[in-house]
Amino acid sequence: MFNGTKMLGHRGAKGERPENTIGGITYALNLGLKAIEIDVHLSADNRLIVIHDDTVDRTTNGTGKIKDLSSEDIRSLDAGDGERVPYLEEVLELLNQYSFTLFIEVKAVGCEKLIAEVIKEREIHHKVIVKSFNHRIIKKIKEIDAKIRTACLLYGLPVNAVNIIETSRADGISISVSTIDQALVELCHHHNYSVTVWNVNKVEDLDTFVQMGVDYIGTDFPSIVTLG
Ligand code: G3P
Ligand code: CA
Repeated sequence: MFNGTKMLGHRGAKGERPENTIGGITYALNLGLKAIEIDVHLSADNRLIVIHDDTVDRTTNGTGKIKDLSSEDIRSLDAGDGERVPYLEEVLELLNQYSFTLFIEVKAVGCEKLIAEVIKEREIHHKVIVKSFNHRIIKKIKEIDAKIRTACLLYGLPVNAVNIIETSRADGISISVSTIDQALVELCHHHNYSVTVWNVNKVEDLDTFVQMGVDYIGTDFPSIVTLG
């Protein structure tokens, strides 16, 4: 089940291009990355919007909460270097052009059904992994469509990771670089659960996580932090 460590572009290529944009994502894919992570919120008119924060303030030239703005308003903004804030569907289109795994981090409650629908419509179950810090979202996604792969986002080191994964019916974890350890990776792999670590931003730190056997290593600097 585990096929060696792969690099994962965090928010596309957060440290090198405008985050969570088509330009940033294609930049990372053109570097040869085989996995990309994005964040998803829901607009006032129920469109799946690829953006990290719950407001547009930090990453665009606009202001306001995503849940209060229409997708048309959000799309009129500049997300950096002339990029627009993408719809999730636009990022999914890239799965037809590039071979990669897309990690979709769900930041907002209430979009589980929509996300499951877009995955099912496109028959891309094998190309995506849905993850969230909100493990109830993860569980709900799996209840809607058991074929969708999921991962529990964790910051701290859990006493019983298997229990957390199993109660969420997830397929793996995605854990902070500051807390991951070898025992956790071994435990997850023993139970056939995948392990992603976020984020490794210094190339000299990379080998530690490769040696640990982590499946996906997230980075903000995909042109610098490479597996060589
Ligand atoms: O991939 C996990 C990581 O993205 C979680 O943190 O704040 O960047 O969404 P954040
Ligand atoms: Ca994220």
